[in-house]
Amino acid sequence: MPLAAVKTQADPDSAPAPRAEIGYTALRTLSLTGFRNHAGLRLDLSGGPVVLAGENGSGKTNILEAVSLLTPGRGLRSARTEALFQMRDGVRIAPQWAVAAQVNGVFGPVDLGTGCEATLDDDAKPGSLRRKVRVNGATAPSQSALAEHLAAVWVTPAMNQLFLDGGAARRRFLDRLVYAVDPAHAGRVTAYEKALRDRSKLLKESGPHGADQAWLDALEAQIAERGVAVTAARLDLTARLARVAAIGFGPFPGAEVSLEGVVEDWLVQGAALTAEDAFRAMLAEGRVLDAQSGGAAVGPHRSDLKVRHLAKGAPAEQCSTGEQKALLLALVLAHARLLTAETGTAPILLLDEVAAHLDGAKRTALFEAVLAHGAQTWMTGTDASVFDPLGEAAERFRVENAAVTPV
Ligand SMILES: Nc1ncnc2c1ncn2[C@@H]1O[C@H](COP(=O)(O)OP(=O)(O)OP(=O)(O)O)[C@@H](O)[C@H]1O
Ligand SMILES: [Mg+2]
Repeated sequence: MPLAAVKTQADPDSAPAPRAEIGYTALRTLSLTGFRNHAGLRLDLSGGPVVLAGENGSGKTNILEAVSLLTPGRGLRSARTEALFQMRDGVRIAPQWAVAAQVNGVFGPVDLGTGCEATLDDDAKPGSLRRKVRVNGATAPSQSALAEHLAAVWVTPAMNQLFLDGGAARRRFLDRLVYAVDPAHAGRVTAYEKALRDRSKLLKESGPHGADQAWLDALEAQIAERGVAVTAARLDLTARLARVAAIGFGPFPGAEVSLEGVVEDWLVQGAALTAEDAFRAMLAEGRVLDAQSGGAAVGPHRSDLKVRHLAKGAPAEQCSTGEQKALLLALVLAHARLLTAETGTAPILLLDEVAAHLDGAKRTALFEAVLAHGAQTWMTGTDASVFDPLGEAAERFRVENAAVTPV
């Protein structure tokens, strides 16, 4: 759809229409308390695209990070809970941080909240604090509960390295895409990682021969079962995504995507139960080496998402910086189109510092996609005028030293 056609759908004389319909995922309010540089912030939102513009260090990315924490995981900076408390001179100055939002969720309106409390004189050790989650005012047993209501996918400057870094960042990226189609995946990944950690701890503390063998067997059975389930969900999404991503989107390139790994090979060749048996046998055989290395030599924690630029016939890591960014956005947009076509719902998009760095044709295509996207898109930038082509449909805020004012 050309951008002009999208713009004419909005009446320029009226405020953005509230978008509360089922299937359109959006935050309608966002409140932050003691969160990074935001002592207290409340935004009331129409549901349309949100633009946050302001100087470096004003607090734009922090707001996107807060939104990202309304989904399972450590958010778009992979931050530890301790780092999220408002601090001054490296000292925690807020007894709690909290993020709350009224959301048009996948199944309708829902109040989501997350946060953490700690006494100010409590010297929180890394990993000692856990963030809590609330859904409609009730404490949820785990972060996974958030995935039932809201999915978010983000593109940040740190992800410029996504195709160059090790596989962990690409696995996290893929898992986030899976959460949006399969909310149970978040719990599955957590359960797999926990079983893996428990086995490593046991092997480290008692050694491969000294450890209780029945306990080791049981942990390896859990790892195999959960690991195969994680891999199956990733493979399923990758195959569906591959068909859409191959087509590209206007100036955004077509991409070939595939998932590589040992468990993937077993699953492609045979049934899930056979893959589980093979995985369990390999874990049992690998105890001595795994006890030395402190991990596990095989498993979905070693899988890798491979991406190729189809028109160039080159792997993503050999493409230019701009081409890699275009590939990443192409994947995110393909995922959004896939979900909209399959389920009628789409994840919220958090695009940190994306628009300003695109050439004109890609920026126009991105804005078209944002306006047609079946969920709210949040965008940041230092130059507000970059977002002018979005017209009246977007809500704009100026961020200045943590103060946020509608424009
Ligand atoms: N825990 C914290 N407590 C207080 N301030 C913090 C905390 N963590 C980060 N900050 C500060 O928050 C400020 C805003 O950071 P943020 O990344 O949101 O800025 P930004 O508007 O996205 O800037 P840029 O345009 O450079 O990306 C920074 O000055 C940073 O030092
Ligand atoms: Mg920023």
